[in-house]
Amino acid sequence: MIRWTDTHTHLNDEVYEGELEQILARMEQAGVGRAIVVGYDLASAQKAVELARLHAPLYAAVGVHPHEAKDYTEETEAELGKLLQEPKVVALGEVGLDYHYDHSPRGVQQEVFRRQIRLARVHKMPLIIHEREATKDALDILREEHAEEVGGVFHCFSGSVETAKEALALNFYISIAGPVTFANARRLPQVILEIPADRLMVETDCPYLTPHPYRGKRNEPAFVTYVGAEVARILGIAPEELARLTWENADRCFRWTPRRES
Ligand code: NI
Repeated sequence: MIRWTDTHTHLNDEVYEGELEQILARMEQAGVGRAIVVGYDLASAQKAVELARLHAPLYAAVGVHPHEAKDYTEETEAELGKLLQEPKVVALGEVGLDYHYDHSPRGVQQEVFRRQIRLARVHKMPLIIHEREATKDALDILREEHAEEVGGVFHCFSGSVETAKEALALNFYISIAGPVTFANARRLPQVILEIPADRLMVETDCPYLTPHPYRGKRNEPAFVTYVGAEVARILGIAPEELARLTWENADRCFRWTPRRES
């Protein structure tokens, strides 16, 4: 039986309000066995935990996105600390740096990133990293804060082979999203061929970045199969084989245990 893990979703986004049952049914039908609902601020993290509590195939990640770093306080950190102890929370994220939009000042983003890496180490939780146009600073901070102790994943990877190798050396996995299916994807296939098969994962990042042939429509976890099929094609292996590999990789990255399967 083919089973995919969608390692990055925002089913906590309000666009899915009232439709979750149908989305979960389509997910099951497509062979997507589990999905991580990722927080980007405190409210969305709480919602992620609540969704994971209510639905067996859903798990949660809690953290504050660099866009929202300006609102990060002591209270936020204390609440995240509590949420990290919930049984179906499998990661701290998404966290990192985004110099493309600069919704929060860069110095604030860096400080909040550092604090959340420390929090992940305290709770022994892997990190889900969002990095855009901030590669050098992100890698420097991960190194300085000893993020390799917990590892995690670079989500929606779009960087170079060199960046991928630095991430791998820091004990991180590389997760591939919908852009790999776009006709103009050039660098990504080369990067995928350089990543060891035991360090690759797939995701939708829904509701964004819908893969071909649904590009332009709203994304959802069932569509991770299109991402997986394209990555398998690039690697020259069967989709079933990639599903099995990436499932096992997610098991290792997120320390999925029998306790968390319950
Ligand atoms: Ni995301």
